[in-house]
Order: sequence, then structure tokens, then C-alpha cells
Amino acid sequence: MKITLSVLKADIGSIGGHITPSQALLNKVNNFIKENGKDLIIDYFISHTGDDVAILCTHERGKLDEKIHKLAWEAFLAGTDTAKKQGLYGAGQDLLKEAFSGNIKGMGPAVAELEFDERPNEPFLFFAADKTEPGAYNLPFYLSFSDPMYCAGLTLSPKMNKGFTFHIMDAEYTEKDKVIELSSPEEIYDIAALLRDNERYVIESIYSRNTGNQAVASSTTRLHNIAGKYTGKDDPVSLVRVQGEFPATGEVLSPYQIGHFVAGFMRGSHTGPLMPCKQNTTISYFDGPPVVTGAAFCVREGKLTEPADVFDHPFWDHVRNKISEKAADIRRQGFSGAAMLPYKELEYGGIVERLEKLDKKFKFRD
Ligand code: 13P
Ligand code: 13P
Ligand code: MG
Ligand code: MG
Repeated sequence: MKITLSVLKADIGSIGGHITPSQALLNKVNNFIKENGKDLIIDYFISHTGDDVAILCTHERGKLDEKIHKLAWEAFLAGTDTAKKQGLYGAGQDLLKEAFSGNIKGMGPAVAELEFDERPNEPFLFFAADKTEPGAYNLPFYLSFSDPMYCAGLTLSPKMNKGFTFHIMDAEYTEKDKVIELSSPEEIYDIAALLRDNERYVIESIYSRNTGNQAVASSTTRLHNIAGKYTGKDDPVSLVRVQGEFPATGEVLSPYQIGHFVAGFMRGSHTGPLMPCKQNTTISYFDGPPVVTGAAFCVREGKLTEPADVFDHPFWDHVRNKISEKAADIRRQGFSGAAMLPYKELEYGGIVERLEKLDKKFKFRD
């Protein structure tokens, strides 16, 4: 059976700043999908990561389907209504356009979709990150799909011996999608040269070279580029098919023990380590640290199992403790140097105005 997995995610309001959506908001989104999705979707799962609400659903309508995207958009509007009634902070934060047109891409919410013929057993992972940007997945996916130090299957499994093709988007170009296709292992130096720059180059998808099948779909939305100003960070979602011709679940998880530094954290303007957290984790220290959650599922004829929480294990407690130390370490240097993002990436208009004012006060000396 050919099915589509769609995940659509938005920040539509949260309790106490950018912490977590309310239960009433989540219930509203859930009930909206339940009532209005009956004839469109096969199954669905609602979750939150920090202040972002994600609608994961299965259906047979393909990628970028107008009706599926409209269903999610309207569910986010219904949730925003509840957010307003409860006085939540940032109600409707990610809904940047007035009217729905065609599909939800470029309207604010993040989207990732995979369409495939179901294998007899079909496991996949759903990642959601908060207080960071789409490039946060660059390093983990690079390591899981091209480095035998992190993915044993690249050397051990004949089903993966040809490597993977990465589709990498230049997120700075906003006229239309600008994408390059590069294959590992032959082109890993080129892949690394681009993925180094998380702000600009973002992995959009990854394909198996053994079968041609798609393994990864990630959101590439940069809100800043849509709104022309800071309206919140671009908190990305991702779907990953695992096992068989793709890396095993544990090989996809292995790079998350690094807690690599990403852009985001307080006011979307700082550098912090990415912490793998349990499902439905809230946000705290310095509006962070940047977090990523992961839910594993199997799907059969579009019906989802319950989620297995991939970061809910004693091993990750140890990792989280180490990452907390990294977060506190970099925060100790406040605004200085690498702790804050470079000028071009600073999400706040305020500092731009301040620096322009100061520039006029500089005097030339002979
Ligand atoms: P306020 O200026 O509304 O407090 O916003 C700060 C903030 O949290 C932006 O993300
Ligand atoms: P979100 O993008 O998650 O709303 O965070 C915004 C922010 O500025 C946090 O300080
Ligand atoms: Mg928010
Ligand atoms: Mg968020």
C-alpha cells in the first residue's frame, strides 16, 4: 500500500512565555483533527515539543496535498482561538499569512512529508526540535547517513553499501527552492563544506542509492525569510524511515549523544547545545536549551502503533547531564563572541537600530 506520512508543526501560543502549549490548546487541535479529518486521514498523533504543536498524520493523498494542509492550517487556527481565549503568550505566532492558499509551505508552519510503498514491516522516527533552526539536523544526519564511525551499517550491511544521496537546500534563497544533490561516499567533502553552515544550507531529504527510496524528509522553513523580521525560531521537524535499506534506529540516534552547538536558545539569537529530550518536554533555562524529541512508530496500512519514546532511557539521562554542563559553560560568557550569533543572524531588530545609531557617533582619526 502506498501511504503518505505528513507532519505539520506550528507554535500557536504557550503558557508562561515560550514554554509549552496548554492542555486546552492541545485538546482543541486534537478534537479538530478528529472531527474534520475523518474522510481525509487514516490515522494521526498530536504531540508538543517545547511550545510547538505537531500534527503527524497518515493518508493516501500524496505530498503537498491541499486538503491535508488546509486541515492542519484550520486546526492551528482553532488552537489559536483557544490560545487567545486563555491569554497564552504568542497566540498564532507561526501563522504568518492571512488566507490559506494551496499548501502550508511558506505560510509559517514547518512541514515534512514522506510518500512510499509500505514494506511488510515499516518502522520510522519522527523528530521535533524547539528553540533552534532546520540546520540543527545537518550534523546528526550527515553522521548517520555517511560516517561509518556513527553508522555501522554503512560497512556491515550489503543493503546500504552504495551510500546515500543528500538533497541540500540553500535556505537563504527565497525566490524559489534552490537545491543541490550530492552523494556519499564520493562527495562527502562537498557535503561537509555545505553542511558546515547550518544557517544557510539545510538537508531537505536523503535517498538510498541502493534502492532509490527516500529515507529522510525535513522541514526547511525560515520564518525570518517569510516575515522579513523575527517572529520566533524555525523549530524544525523531520521524518526518517529506518532499518533494512536505511540506517537502524540506533544508528540514527547515535549522533545525538554529542549535544552539538546549534543556533537558537534565548530570543533565537544564541548558541547552545542540542539536548535530546523525552516526548512533550517543556522549555526552561535561558528559553532553552535547544531541545529535540524523537518518537518511533511502526505503520501498517496507514495505521500507527503507539509511539516509543526514543530518548526516554537511562543512557540519555547521562547525556542530558553532560549537555546541561555544556549549556551552562557557554552561557557563562553571556553576549561575548561565539555565545551569541553573528550580526547577520541576530533575530532582534533592536540591536540593528542600536548599532546604526552608534555608527553615526564614530569619528575618524588621521
Ligand atoms: P517580548 O518582547 O514580547 O517580551 O518578546 C520577547 C520574546 O520572548 C521574543 O521571543
Ligand atoms: P520560539 O520560536 O520557540 O517561539 O522561541 C522564541 C524565542 O524567542 C525564545 O526566547
Ligand atoms: Mg514561541
Ligand atoms: Mg518553538
